[in-house]
Amino acid sequence: MQIHSRVPMFGPADATPVPAPGEVRGDRPDHDGKHDDGKHDDGKHDGKDHDGALDEAVSRAQAKSAVVEERLRLQPGNHLVLSGDRPTGDLHIGHLLGTLANRVRLQQLGVPLVLVIADYQVIVDRTDPGPVRDRVRALVADYLAAGVDPERTVIFPHSAIPSLNQLMLPFLALVSAAELHRNPTIKSEMNAAGRPLSGLLLTYPVHQAADILFCGGTVVPVGMDQLPHLELTRSIARRFNDRYGHLFRLPEPLLSRTPLVLGTDGRKMSKSRGNSIALSANEDLTASRIRSAKTDSVRLVEYRPKARPEVASLLEIVAAFTGDTPAGIAHEIGNRGSGALKARAAEAVNEFLRPLRARRRELVAEPSYLDGVLLDGIGQANAMASSTLGKVRAAMDMDYLAGRRAGT
Ligand code: TRP
Repeated sequence: MQIHSRVPMFGPADATPVPAPGEVRGDRPDHDGKHDDGKHDDGKHDGKDHDGALDEAVSRAQAKSAVVEERLRLQPGNHLVLSGDRPTGDLHIGHLLGTLANRVRLQQLGVPLVLVIADYQVIVDRTDPGPVRDRVRALVADYLAAGVDPERTVIFPHSAIPSLNQLMLPFLALVSAAELHRNPTIKSEMNAAGRPLSGLLLTYPVHQAADILFCGGTVVPVGMDQLPHLELTRSIARRFNDRYGHLFRLPEPLLSRTPLVLGTDGRKMSKSRGNSIALSANEDLTASRIRSAKTDSVRLVEYRPKARPEVASLLEIVAAFTGDTPAGIAHEIGNRGSGALKARAAEAVNEFLRPLRARRRELVAEPSYLDGVLLDGIGQANAMASSTLGKVRAAMDMDYLAGRRAGT
């Protein structure tokens, strides 16, 4: 899969100093079209309220990401890419242009890839996990259809990996309650949940550290909203190493080079709001969703992201799927108005997704194949997790019967 990007991969990044960990703290969460559930969003974070501080934090994080990219390119075998999603609905083009394309691209560079399906994260802020069984399979189909190679990827739901889950206990001892309460993504999810803060919502970033550290993940492709969680993971790894001896490498986030993709209502694209273009949607639904997209009343189509975010987002989408520039597309459409822009966007999206959707249909028709991919992934993830938990317990001097009897 090739998603076009206008941003040069290693331009000024070479000259940009790497910011110290923690510098990206305090960014506005929910920036990237991920976290795709209306329930996660308090409506204040819809990509329109760009301010100087945010722009600066984004560009710092992006500059750092370019440095990470370069290291991956030089030594793919020395890294492990770990990323994941909550099984709360079908993936959409926001995911594709965000983290999904990054994962596929890095895998094609030869970096080992581990994908965690975060099923325990579904219940952080709701009582009903929904049709989670079907959604886990659908997520596997989305991944493989997007170009993830099942032969070279470990894909698993984290509920199936007991040793990963046990890592949460020693990790919880390494963080303070105040630190968890300060996390801006948790704050916004808490406000959006509309119910009392659950213990799991407060502590899932610690569980997410277990997702990342159980397999030695070094690079984590994520959106802006996940940066605080990555920062916490780094703190946990650092504190564990300081307290018990070096065991964990510190993982680094990798931000997408594609700007925020807005949903058809002008707000953040979200699985559950009916404003997204799912990878699984058909061409008619895609075209009608895009036709109904909110724009403004100015006839002339121009690329002005701050002043005209909805028009700019449509231009970004066309650009990402065709390889043209947003300004070039705007110029070409000119006075023909947003109707012409939407027709162009529907065509670009449908054309790009056609082969992906055909593959996805074939995959969905073979649930036993998808289950096999999961079974394989669960086997490999369990092996990695028991090995890591063994080392953690040894480092903590809690491996009392090691060497005498298995499984103690
Ligand atoms: N919290 C992530 C999200 O909502 C999903 C996730 C779970 C994840 N575990 C992870 C992402 C580990 C990166 C690494 O999108």
